[in-house]
Amino acid sequence: MASDPVEVRRSVAAWLRHAAAFRGLRCVRSAGPVERQEILRSDEAVTPKAHQGTLEAKGAPSTSDGAARSGSAGGAARAPEAGTERGAQSARSGAARGEDLRARAARWPPEMKLRYLADKVIGDCHRCPLARGRRSIVFGVGSARARIVFVGEAPGGEEDLRGEPFVGPAGARLDAWLDAVGLARDDVYIANVVKCRPPGNRDPRPSEVDACAPFLRAQLRAIEPRVIVALGRHAAMFMSGRDDMSLGRLRRMQLAYRDPKMQGRTIPVVATYHPAFILRKPEGAERDRFESGVLGDLRRAIEIAESSGREHP
Ligand code: URA
Repeated sequence: MASDPVEVRRSVAAWLRHAAAFRGLRCVRSAGPVERQEILRSDEAVTPKAHQGTLEAKGAPSTSDGAARSGSAGGAARAPEAGTERGAQSARSGAARGEDLRARAARWPPEMKLRYLADKVIGDCHRCPLARGRRSIVFGVGSARARIVFVGEAPGGEEDLRGEPFVGPAGARLDAWLDAVGLARDDVYIANVVKCRPPGNRDPRPSEVDACAPFLRAQLRAIEPRVIVALGRHAAMFMSGRDDMSLGRLRRMQLAYRDPKMQGRTIPVVATYHPAFILRKPEGAERDRFESGVLGDLRRAIEIAESSGREHP
């Protein structure tokens, strides 16, 4: 299994060449600008259907999640002619191609699934109005094989600028917490429920969460972490599906993340305070008390990660 980024890029390129050849197109790498556009256009038109199934098996969101629509008119242009023999044949070969891709994608290493999800499925996403004000899509960072995934709410200004989650003041606090419990940023994976910055750092709207959440779900299916740490009440509610209690209560509960596409498997969720919430407290005894609570939560998450046995092959 390829885990080295160069190797992963090579595998993706090989797959793209294969997909292009499959459609009678020249490989992306050697194509000129016009051909490249043609390949990408046809990829957009064909891929979501084919890969929808492919990545649903182990990762990417699908149109049934309410996301991952290409928005490409090419899809309609390529639809088989309903009711004709050619149309039926085309639908059959499309389904077979989907099956083939599904089987192959299920074997992709998690790094490749995440890369495909970021580059090809999310792409230049305009599925919700947050796209209009963003500078970056803040996808996620860290190890694709992490045992612990940290989930925040949405990127802030610094994250939007740099395209990486938790790199502003809240990120510095999170890094300090990781350090205090013996973890490095590279040991874990960090992402947000919503990938684009809401204007003025307001809370994301339910429709924005609905549009974006399938990507987080797909990231989690690709990574298959042993435990999820939800930072703050919004992430805790989203990850646990509990919207009827305070973060204080959620922290004391055994929570689980469920995804209908995970065949009944659940992932334990540890809810804790958001670093921005802690930073709003004046320095002193009260803040220290909250922070020692956070460190206790992180140690509990590490224990869960160490005691459960799921690993990537
Ligand atoms: N707050 C979040 O919830 N996420 C970030 O990435 C940064 C701040």
